[in-house]
Amino acid sequence: MAKKPIKAIKALEEAQKIAFAPFVFQTTVSLRKLGVFDYLFENDSDGGVTLEELSKALSISEYGLSVLLEIAESSDIVSTNEDSGYELTKIGYFLNYNKMTEANLNFTQDVCYQGLFHLHEAIQTGKPAGLKELGPWPTVYEGLSQLPSKIQESWFAFDHFYSDEIFGEALPLVFRHQPKTLFDIGGNTGKFAILCANYDPDVEITIFDLPGQLSKALENAKENGLENRISGQEIDWLSENPRIHEGADTIWMSQFLDCFSKEEILKILKICVQSMDDSAELIIIETYTDRQKFDNARFTLEATSLYFTALANGNSKMYKATEFQELIEKAGLILKEDLPVGEFHTMFVCGKDSSR
Ligand SMILES: C[S@@+](CC[C@H](N)C(=O)[O-])C[C@H]1O[C@@H](n2cnc3c(N)ncnc32)[C@H](O)[C@@H]1O
Repeated sequence: MAKKPIKAIKALEEAQKIAFAPFVFQTTVSLRKLGVFDYLFENDSDGGVTLEELSKALSISEYGLSVLLEIAESSDIVSTNEDSGYELTKIGYFLNYNKMTEANLNFTQDVCYQGLFHLHEAIQTGKPAGLKELGPWPTVYEGLSQLPSKIQESWFAFDHFYSDEIFGEALPLVFRHQPKTLFDIGGNTGKFAILCANYDPDVEITIFDLPGQLSKALENAKENGLENRISGQEIDWLSENPRIHEGADTIWMSQFLDCFSKEEILKILKICVQSMDDSAELIIIETYTDRQKFDNARFTLEATSLYFTALANGNSKMYKATEFQELIEKAGLILKEDLPVGEFHTMFVCGKDSSR
C-alpha cells in the first residue's frame, strides 16, 4: 500500500467524502438554484439566518432546507453560529460567486453529470459512451450547435472561460509579424477571428470548423459587419482526406488539438505543415498539465480529460507540454518560441522545419 502518511480514521473519513461526493455536489447545485446561498449572503449582517426565517423568505419547507443545510455544514459550505443562524463560509461564497467555480460547476451539472455515469464503458470501448445522454452524435463536436440551450450555454461558458481570458494577451504576440492571412483552426463561435479582424484592419481570416459550428461563427462575423474579411471552410479532421489550402501567414489553434488523440494530432499537424511556406507560423495554445503552477489547476485539467473520455470523443485529453513537443517535432515543425500566456496557458510558436 502507498505510504503517504495518513491516520486510518482520517483516511476512512476521506473515503466517505468520495463515496458521497455526488450528494454534496447536488446539494450545492440545489442551494444555488433555490436561492439559499444568495439569501444567506445578502442577509448575514445581523449574524446568520435561521431555518424558520429562510423557510418563510424562500417558501421552501424547513424539512427541505434542513437536509440540504445539514450536509452543507458538514462539508464546510455553510456554518452555524451560537444562535443557530446559518452563514456562508468562504467555500460557500466561492461556490456561489466565483466565476471560475461557476463555469466548472455548471459544466459538470449540465454537460457532464449524466454522461459520467458511463465512464467505465468509455474506458473499455475507447468511445464517448456517455454522449448518448446528450444526443446521437459520434463526438460532441457534431452536436455542439444542436445542444439544448441550457447545456449549450454551460458548454460555451466553460470553453470561453478558459480561452477568452488569454485572447487579449495573445493578440499582440500573434500580430508581431503582421500576418495578412490567418487561419483559425477550430474557430468555434468566431470570437478570436472577430477580435483579430478588429485588432488589425488589414488581416483576413479563414475559420476552419465542422459545418454546424462554422455557420454559427460566420453568422457572428456577419453580425459584426466583418463578412468581407472573415470567411470559412468546412472541414472534418476525422474524415478520410482533410485538406487546407496554402497561403496562411499564421495558422492559429487555440484549445483545439486537445480534442484529438495523439495519432490524430500528428495527422492534423502534418496536413498543416504541407500547406505552410517557410515563413508561415503555426501557433498552438493549450493548457498543459505539466505547466500549471497550482495543483488545483492541474486537478481541473484532469477532470476535463474525463469529460473528453466519457462525453467528447473517447480518445483525447489534456496533454503534457512534453507530449506536444514530441508531436511537433515528428510533424516536421520546429518549436521557435515557448511562451506562458495568462494563468494557465502556454503558447507554442512553430515554424516549418525546412531541413526535412
Ligand atoms: C474546444 S473548442 C476550441 C474553440 C476555440 N478555438 C477556443 O479557443 O475557444 C474546439 C473546436 O474544434 C472543433 N472541432 C472538434 N472536432 C473537430 C473535427 N473533427 N473537425 C473540425 N473541427 C473540429 C470544434 O467544433 C470546436 O469549435
